[in-house]
Parts: sequence; structure tokens; C-alpha cells
Amino acid sequence: MTRPPQGTLGIDFGTSNSAMAWAAPGGSARLIPLEGAATAMPTAVFYNSEDLSTHFGRDAVAQYLEGTEGRLMRSLKSLLGSPLLLETTVVNHRQVSFQDIIATFLATLRERAAQALGAAPTRVVMGRPVHFVDDDPARDALAEASLLQAAQAVGFTDVSFQLEPIAAALDYERRLDRESTVLVVDLGGGTSDFTVVRLGPERMQHADRAQDVLATTGVHIGGTDFDHKLSLEQVMPLLGYRHIGPQGREVPSRIFFDLSTWHLIHWLYQPRAIAQAQELWSNYADARLHQRLMRVLQQRHGHHIAHEVEQAKIRCSQGDADTTVDLAYVEAGLSAPMTVAAMQAHLHSLLARTVACARECVLQAGVADGALDAIYLTGGSSALRPFQRALQAEFAGVPLVEGDLFGGVASGLVYSGS
Ligand SMILES: Nc1ncnc2c1ncn2[C@@H]1O[C@H](COP(=O)(O)OP(=O)(O)OP(=O)(O)O)[C@@H](O)[C@H]1O
Ligand SMILES: [Mg+2]
Repeated sequence: MTRPPQGTLGIDFGTSNSAMAWAAPGGSARLIPLEGAATAMPTAVFYNSEDLSTHFGRDAVAQYLEGTEGRLMRSLKSLLGSPLLLETTVVNHRQVSFQDIIATFLATLRERAAQALGAAPTRVVMGRPVHFVDDDPARDALAEASLLQAAQAVGFTDVSFQLEPIAAALDYERRLDRESTVLVVDLGGGTSDFTVVRLGPERMQHADRAQDVLATTGVHIGGTDFDHKLSLEQVMPLLGYRHIGPQGREVPSRIFFDLSTWHLIHWLYQPRAIAQAQELWSNYADARLHQRLMRVLQQRHGHHIAHEVEQAKIRCSQGDADTTVDLAYVEAGLSAPMTVAAMQAHLHSLLARTVACARECVLQAGVADGALDAIYLTGGSSALRPFQRALQAEFAGVPLVEGDLFGGVASGLVYSGS
């Protein structure tokens, strides 16, 4: 048997994307290629029911979007700490729990690390959000214990955890040439995490950094919540959300909430759910909207819509310009607008709660805004323009520094373990 390589592996198991970094003792972290040259990959598993194969990452998402028959699993991290984690589901004729699916994903990460390093590592530092579950310490502890169990089940024998925003800070510290007090912001797919830390070349030499972490806060809001809200507000009205029926009442809204929530979509394809949706017809004044809804369910366009909404959000944010969500696969010529103004308006309250969590972190740290040298941004959703504007308005005058959006946490995990 090949001996495990000496060093530390960092695994950032994200709600949307995962990344891994490696460092030999005392060395610098390097990101591990996961799919071709890409060093981040979607946290996605696809069970192909045509040939019973299993696919991961971009490959999983692509298979699904190409219309291959099977089940796509995403947002697996959101299930940690929830009773759903141990519930089983049938994929490819096998009964598996979501915990097993997480372990399958981690096993693939470990295999890919082994390919890059020559042998499978045994020592790992895993990232964890400040809160897996808000306001429930028992479920939060359960979430970490479940992730630990999954990591051990696939062969990691030395597993420790580090908070994701602290890992991001330790990565940023490598770039600093002077002592700084920094608000680190990690806005991902599922959670927003904040930490105020003292960083610098001299402090970096200390083994115990607990004194330098002045405060950490976190809230369970991330990019998937933005996608949910944008889908509900911009796309679901085309299928009847808030549509007033012949009796002057709105169509019952539950189905639109589920259809905008990635991990609930597949339940709507069950025969019983389809029958219930069919019965909604009498709540519609405009039968065309109901027909559209039925087409989406019967032709299973739910995840495709969710994917298109996310892409439109990213385009709208990156270009700071209006765009559209293409829905031509539902009905020829159909699309939904995604404008800068609509995005700003619909995300306002989620962003306000996120920024309030950042403010709380700075308050807990007891640091005046004027004493913050920078706000360091990491995580895919930290690139969202309306978020950056809201944050800048709250912390006027503090420079925003954009970091490595998808690899920073993984690299920092390695530094916290060496
Ligand atoms: N340019 C962009 N503008 C806005 N959002 C973006 C952009 N690029 C990616 N995103 C969003 O970032 C999110 C993924 O970010 P990231 O990979 O950092 O999350 P994660 O680490 O998987 O999640 P978490 O840390 O919450 O577990 C997705 O919701 C994606 O839509
Ligand atoms: Mg993350």
C-alpha cells in the first residue's frame, strides 16, 4: 500500500461549490485540480438511471441539464443538522441516505486528491460555517458530527474543523505586509459568515491565533436564498404565483415556493403532487398560466428554471445591466426580466439581514469602523453588486478588497492545520 503523503489537506465542502488545497509541512497551500484544471467544482451528484452510473461536479450538472434520466443532488450541505439527513431515498435501485450521498461526494474528493498527490491523504482540516443551523446549538453540533462521520467513513483518520471565515482570513494574511484589522466576509451559496481578525506578518508566526479572532457571526443566508427569491418574484408569476382567480383569491402559493427551492423541486414530480397541481385549475382565471405550470411539472423543467435564474442573477450582477431568464424550453418566446432595479428591490431585505450580521460582528469585536483597515470579500455571492453596495453604505470609507472567491477558504484551512 502506498504511504499517505505528509502534509495537510483542506476541504471546503460548500453548499454550491467545493474546493481542496494541500500543503506539505511548513509549505504554501496549493489548490488541487478537481475537474480538468478547475480547482473548484459544484457540490453536485447525479445518479444516471439510464446506465446506473454516478457523476460529480460540472459533469453531474451537465448530464442533468442535457436531459439524461436520473436524480441530481445539490445543496447537500443544507441538510446537515436536519432530520432529512438520515432519511433514505431510492437512487439507481439502491436505498441511500443523504448522509451516504455526502460521503460519496467526499470519497470522490479524496480520490481526486490522491490522483494529484500520488496517494490518498489521511489528515484533513474541514471548513464549517459559523452556524450550520441558526439558533439551535444541538442541531448545529449534530451537523458537524455528521460531516465528521462522513469524512471518517471515506478514510480520513485525522479530521479537524475550522470556521470558514477564519480560514479565509488566514489565506488573506499571506498577502499582507503590515498589521491590519480586517472584517472578513464569506458569502457563499448557503451561509454568510463574518469575522473580525487581527492579521499581519508578525502575528502569522504565532501558533495560537485565538487572541486575534475578535468576533465571528454568521447567518443562514446565501446565494441559493437569493435565487429562490428572484425565481419567486420574477419567474413564478408566469406560472400563476399571485394570480387572482375567478373567486377573487390568489392561487395557493405553496407550489411556487417549492418550485423555487432546489432541493424540494423533485417532490413536485411525484404522481400525487402532479395530481394536486392539476386540481389547482379552478383557482386560475387565465387557464394558460395553469397549462404552463403543468408543462413545467410534467416535462420536469424545475431545476432548469432554477439554473437559469441563478445564471441570470450572475449576469445581471457582473454586468450591472438588465438581462432576462430564458424560458423558451417551457414555451416558445417565453422569458422573464431580471433587471438591476428588480434585483435590488427583491434582495433588499435578505441583504439588510446579511449586512446587519456584519455590523453585529464588528460591534461584538468592539472595533470602531475607522479602525478597520479593510473588508475582505470571499465566497461567490460576495461578488453580488447589490450586496457590495449595501456593505459599502454600512461601512462607508472602509476599502473593499476582493479575494479568491472560490479557493480562499480551502487554502486557509491548510494554514490553520499546519
Ligand atoms: N459573480 C457573481 N455574482 C453573484 N453571485 C455569484 C457570482 N458568482 C457566483 N455566485 C453565487 O455564489 C454562490 C456560490 O458561492 P460559493 O461557491 O462561495 O458557495 P459555497 O462555498 O458553496 O457555499 P457556503 O460557503 O455557503 O457553503 C452561488 O449561489 C452562486 O450563484
Ligand atoms: Mg463557502
